Amino acid sequence: MQTELSNTLGAEYAVFGFTPFPAVAAAITRAGGFGVLGAVRYTAPDDLARDLDWMQDHTGGLPYGLDVVMPAKKVAGVSEAEVEAMIPEGHRRFVDGLLDRHQVPRLAAGEASGWRITGWMEQVARDQLDVAFGYPIKLLANALGSPPADIVRRAHDHGVLVAALAGSPRHARHHRDAGIDIVVAQGYEAGGHTGEIATMVLTPEVVAAVDPLPVLAAGGIGTGEQIAAGLALGAQGVWLGSIWLTTEEAELHSRRLTRKLLAAGPGDTVRSRALTGKPARQLRTEWTDAWDDPGGPGALPMPLQGLLVAEANSRIQRYEVEPLLGTPVGQIVGRMNSERSVQAVFDDLTRGFERAIDRINRIAGRA
Ligand SMILES: Cc1cc2nc3c(=O)[nH]c(=O)nc-3n(C[C@H](O)[C@H](O)[C@H](O)COP(=O)(O)O)c2cc1C
Repeated sequence: MQTELSNTLGAEYAVFGFTPFPAVAAAITRAGGFGVLGAVRYTAPDDLARDLDWMQDHTGGLPYGLDVVMPAKKVAGVSEAEVEAMIPEGHRRFVDGLLDRHQVPRLAAGEASGWRITGWMEQVARDQLDVAFGYPIKLLANALGSPPADIVRRAHDHGVLVAALAGSPRHARHHRDAGIDIVVAQGYEAGGHTGEIATMVLTPEVVAAVDPLPVLAAGGIGTGEQIAAGLALGAQGVWLGSIWLTTEEAELHSRRLTRKLLAAGPGDTVRSRALTGKPARQLRTEWTDAWDDPGGPGALPMPLQGLLVAEANSRIQRYEVEPLLGTPVGQIVGRMNSERSVQAVFDDLTRGFERAIDRINRIAGRA
């Protein structure tokens, strides 16, 4: 599982792991992969600095990266309060009705209402990058579009490669034209925001579209056999997100959610606008059903939806309200059946990869 790209980055394996948890990112790197810390939840730069300090102390000089969210469609020059004022009353009543029906308690006074819109605002990502460029990150990834030209230049000045997620060959070409170094071809099966093209189809399309830029295959990859498939399709590596959610190092906010993930099958996710206003694959719950119901008001566009549901989600998570409790996760959730360490996941991935190579060698008459 070594490629030119993993060699360039100094990782033993061409396995990139996206995760919002520093302990998981560091463990991925220590296991020989390339850990990428998701920064969207860090609205205070000091918190990010604290966790990057920790990563630095727990990766032993091995490489890691950072993922920020700079939406191509910007929320610029508008305050959070102004965005808040755009939310229709009917949608607020719909949220209140849903929470009341499920008897979701209110947060105690002073209890943080959790993740809000701010992580999606370009200035927040810029503040995160001011912090991140003070650390020896090797890769900067961006979701939801190509990062602005000045950020790409700044990354390159720091010797940092820039990656961007793409759900279509058109997105991928746009990234290439914006000077991006690595395209993450993320298929429909993936957890989080996705396009409509499956990884099996998307990966070779993107490889052809941006050749000779390196491409990482993402979406629906959770076994070594799937890694072999991604590399066989022309990718220079794979990018895994969901699989780490049920690792021992992950700090999911609720045991009940971990149990839901472990029990879920591959058909238990849905691509829904319920969370952010843009289609994102997540666990299917009564919450997503309500937003996807044609008889309901439907989700608002990004960033209004994220702001509208932030406190509701905090309440659902805080009180672990089972029917509503969810998270972004991909179809690979069907394979996430036991809680294991990141190292144990890696051991499994390498064994599966070897099995796939042996099988192909036999089929090709080389063994
Ligand atoms: C819980 C969760 C949160 C995610 N958040 C982000 C994010 O903030 N930025 C990003 O670039 N991708 C995000 N993603 C997508 C991952 O980077 C990755 O592309 C995806 O998980 C790969 O597909 P898989 O889930 O089938 O492994 C997220 C995925 C999950 C499961």
